[in-house]
Amino acid sequence: MTLFGIVTAFMAISTLSAPLSPPKTLQWDRVAPGVWRATIGRKDKLNLISAAAARPAKDALKKQGDVETPPIDLSLASGENVAGHAVARIPLLPDEKLYGLGLQMHGSDRRGGVYHLRMDHYSGGKDRLHAPTPLYISSKGYAVFFNTARPISIYAGVGNRLGSPGNPKSRDRNTDPAWEAQPASDAVEASVQAPGMEVFLFAGPTPMDALRRYNLFCGGGALPPRWALGFWHRVPLEASAEEVTRETEEFDRRSFPLDVVGLEPGWQSRSYPGSFVWSEKRFPDPAGFLKKLGDDNLRVNLWENPYVAESSPLYTPLKPFFASHTVWLGAVPDLTIPKAAEIVRQHHKSVGIDLGVSGYKIDEVDGVDVWLWPDHAAFPSGIPGDQMRQIYGVLWQRELETLFEDSGKRTFGLVRGSNGGASRFPFAIYSDTYDHREYVTGITSAGLAGVMWCAEARSASNGEEWVRRMQTAVLSHIAQLNAWADGTKPWSFPGYEEPVKKAMQFRIEILPYLYTAFAQYHYQGTPVIRAMSLVDGGDETDQYLLGDDILVAPMFAGTKSRKVRLPHGEWFDYETGKRVGDGETIEVTPALDKIPLFVRNGALIPTIAPQLRAGTLRKGTPIILRSYGNQTPHGALYDDDGETFAYRKGRYSWFDLSIDKDGRGVMTKREGDGSSLYGAITVQSFAR
Ligand code: GAL
Repeated sequence: MTLFGIVTAFMAISTLSAPLSPPKTLQWDRVAPGVWRATIGRKDKLNLISAAAARPAKDALKKQGDVETPPIDLSLASGENVAGHAVARIPLLPDEKLYGLGLQMHGSDRRGGVYHLRMDHYSGGKDRLHAPTPLYISSKGYAVFFNTARPISIYAGVGNRLGSPGNPKSRDRNTDPAWEAQPASDAVEASVQAPGMEVFLFAGPTPMDALRRYNLFCGGGALPPRWALGFWHRVPLEASAEEVTRETEEFDRRSFPLDVVGLEPGWQSRSYPGSFVWSEKRFPDPAGFLKKLGDDNLRVNLWENPYVAESSPLYTPLKPFFASHTVWLGAVPDLTIPKAAEIVRQHHKSVGIDLGVSGYKIDEVDGVDVWLWPDHAAFPSGIPGDQMRQIYGVLWQRELETLFEDSGKRTFGLVRGSNGGASRFPFAIYSDTYDHREYVTGITSAGLAGVMWCAEARSASNGEEWVRRMQTAVLSHIAQLNAWADGTKPWSFPGYEEPVKKAMQFRIEILPYLYTAFAQYHYQGTPVIRAMSLVDGGDETDQYLLGDDILVAPMFAGTKSRKVRLPHGEWFDYETGKRVGDGETIEVTPALDKIPLFVRNGALIPTIAPQLRAGTLRKGTPIILRSYGNQTPHGALYDDDGETFAYRKGRYSWFDLSIDKDGRGVMTKREGDGSSLYGAITVQSFAR
């Protein structure tokens, strides 16, 4: 070897063996009250916040109050670029629990797991998700959001860095029975294959406060129209206009509530890939059909998946914007390109919204590479295929929501894949999976991922299961029967019609309460449905709080009784008003027609008499305040026109509900213009 060779070899070895430099302490900026931001490396231009076009609800954030001191020791949070990854390291205390990390269908505390947050629900892997939101909420009362549209891996208290001060003491496995295979780690590490990413930190003091700040930072939760809180029924795949009308008439004849009819792929002239135009055979006069249903105060929601058939009128104008790969041979438009998005919007306007369509169900946006497109698929915008899969459902929600905003009408729809940043979109997630317990866990974990969940009922193997499934459906964000494959009707199980009707009527009965809970989501960022981890740090995934005051404990077929853990404070049975306990675990044995529902002491629940449509409440509808317990009763009520965006211009009201000394119900304006749909107030006292 020449001298030059020796010197070069020596330099190579010494470069390889240079000691690693420690990750850099992150530099944080306070970007909104109680919100801090740090950046590692160079962040992607397209990220979750930009894909959702999310803008902070500044006034609402201000109302949450400012926080001077960051909720964690920022000097311990670090970041680095290593081997093509951008990595964030956020400190953890030994007794901290972590919640969230996407719309998970199992479990509650995520500490001690590794989560590869990728859009996908087909591969069956435990961490593949319909909403892989990279957000976690700590039991210590703060939340962390990794703002990247890339697939991201989160090591939730897993992995010990060399020399980290919080590492547990090393033990000798030969002699020490306390040796652990997975020693506790003192940090969450998040890594993406990217030049950089942005990290947001949301202050508490409680986990709920931190989640509120996250939702408000994304623009506040969605506020759906009032009609969308009624009952939804999706008709079979190939139903024709006539068959749909016959079906809706049967709902009315049998007095089962109905507000929204969902049309499945058969409304289009072809599907998979779709034509995006009405089938002349099944719907010869779409405008007339929609008008007839509209006159009957029914809304129509259209299924679609975003993949365009060559015969579709959308194909030629969108051609310059298609990706290199197809889905079911349908072309995939790149919706990050404004011109493509505009074409898609215009088409939906003329074929749908202008005719009276109330919303969409965006299907098949949640697959991984075998289902959608490969990682290396090219999009005209240059966005990599794996990144596009993470946000494709978000982009469709964004465009459709924009369209409805432009038309001045609110919408509520369904989507099978969403992600972080999307709290403001009025879409609930659904799935092709059908495990009842997973569906209930989905109801509870949706709020922890900044999304909503539709625990739809589709079919059942017997009447008991049908009743229990429908009872769960009416207590999720969208109350839906999806009969696309089975043609099941609410009354399909002879002898079980009445408990099903009762559950559907209950949905309408609590409409004012439910609408208020949605308003809390919108104005305050508080999820409509609250996991026990947010309520009091509990880890149950089979019970949850709906709004402020109703604890829900769904029943599952094949079980006659179940345990319910009551949070601290006295609780009362919704139907009988009987006291059931205080901060203890009780066993309940509800009859088949009964959903175990418990009300907080002192709560006033605003309700209405059962009716067939949520969307046709007339001015002066009497309101019934259900009063529980033995404390001074109080409650809240939100109201607005239920359909337009006039609330953004101050046309809304918040009321405090109370009972005066003569036992009369009182609505006192707290905020807004004081107008309300409701008339006479009656009180139904279950007070003890
Ligand atoms: C599935 C979807 C179902 C139904 C069906 C129609 O992908 O999850 O709810 O819409 O497509 O083909």
